[in-house]
Amino acid sequence: MVHCDLVIKGGLVATETGVFEADIGITNETIVAIASELPMGRNEIDARGRIVTPGGVDSHCHIEQLAASGLMNADTFESATRSAALGGTTTVIPFAAQHVGMSLKAVVEDYHERAAKGAIVDYAFHMILADPRPEILKDELPALVEAGHSSLKVFLTYDRLRVEDEQFLDVLWAAREHGCMVCVHAENHGMISWMGKKLIEKGLTSPKYHVPSHPRLAEAEAINRAIAMAAFIDQPLMIFHVSTAEGAATIRRWQGQGVKVYGETCTQYLTLTSADLDKPGIEGAMWICSPPLRDPADQEALWQALANGTLTTISSDHAPYRMDETGKLAKGPNPTFKETANGLAGLELRLPVLFDAMVKKGRAGLADFVRLTATEPARIYGLAPKKGTIAIGSDADLVIWDAERRTKITHETTHDDSGYTAYAGREIEGWPSHVVRRGQIIVRDGGLEATPGSGRFLPRPGGSYALPTGNRTPEVALLGD
Ligand code: URP
Ligand code: ZN
Ligand code: ZN
Repeated sequence: MVHCDLVIKGGLVATETGVFEADIGITNETIVAIASELPMGRNEIDARGRIVTPGGVDSHCHIEQLAASGLMNADTFESATRSAALGGTTTVIPFAAQHVGMSLKAVVEDYHERAAKGAIVDYAFHMILADPRPEILKDELPALVEAGHSSLKVFLTYDRLRVEDEQFLDVLWAAREHGCMVCVHAENHGMISWMGKKLIEKGLTSPKYHVPSHPRLAEAEAINRAIAMAAFIDQPLMIFHVSTAEGAATIRRWQGQGVKVYGETCTQYLTLTSADLDKPGIEGAMWICSPPLRDPADQEALWQALANGTLTTISSDHAPYRMDETGKLAKGPNPTFKETANGLAGLELRLPVLFDAMVKKGRAGLADFVRLTATEPARIYGLAPKKGTIAIGSDADLVIWDAERRTKITHETTHDDSGYTAYAGREIEGWPSHVVRRGQIIVRDGGLEATPGSGRFLPRPGGSYALPTGNRTPEVALLGD
């Protein structure tokens, strides 16, 4: 009789297509058997009465990333991925962020080095292109895609990061040639900049004015423009962090016309609102992120967009900054909303907060939870079928849930380095008791057992997952390949 290295016994196994009771057998980092009764393994986890899901795939997080302002975010690869693992996420896609004038190749090497030292979970990188000059797209990009970096992010807003429409077309064109996925931060720069200046002139500077400084229409306009340009070139596009009902409706319209556009939202847009920024003094700065938190009606629209397939991933957009001079208060103790670093920590709480909202509070089922937090992000970014699912041949990345455990979230229950949590005070039900990464138990009864540097880089060759539709506009077709 063949004994597996590890058997997860008798759990309720959840996949995107169904939920069933089974044993899971693991050998050499891989799932090798799924059956109602497997022979004893060399090691076992008793999962009877527990739910077993695939390890989470967080396809949008900022780790040890230098902002254009020169500010380093609060987490190292070690602290960020420690928090990810404890929350049940076993794969992350953070960014290798180019700034103007930099070599993209050098940037990727730098992030690679830091991740290899610190990462506890497996990882790939999206490359941020802030300076898509011809030599970057022609000389550096092809080799980087060859090395397994096949997704890019561009910004349509932020001074020193944003690309103009023509540069965006250059990126889409190069991405199409090399089979990359393009992700976009889609907000209208002029509207944000104009509105920010007007609010500050009027003395409306406290954190809550961050919300109107990113007008709702700025999101819908830029999403529409970004998709129009991607459709023009016939290049697959991912719209990151959709926050408004209008943004989701815009994506749906283009999807209805056969354009290959995907949409992501984040835990915070589904579970926090702009009311969180309306606190006395500077406290509301803890909730400043971009796009900003919106209204309950937007939450409703985003849940519907997830249910009808307009949006297909929920990420954390983990972007941690401490509430001190190293982070949110770098410009002084009482900054305007415009001077405050943008972003929230979310890697650890993404799965527990969503498990509570979706599975326990009934917003969606277990299969939807798995699809939106693991299976789809793995598929969209070329990590499937190794990641994001429970299937024979897949990496043995698993979360065993204590579905009845109640947790009152406090800063002390989280393990990143941001020094606070935007979800403090919330009581949730369900928490990962064990987390398995490639067959190794990295979290046992809520305690971390993995070492920094044990996470592995996941190369993603371009082409196979980011194919264009073949429906190029007649104008662009004139240009040939
Ligand atoms: O506020 C946020 N989300 N900061 C991270 C940068 C981004 O645009 O995703
Ligand atoms: Zn963004
Ligand atoms: Zn982001």
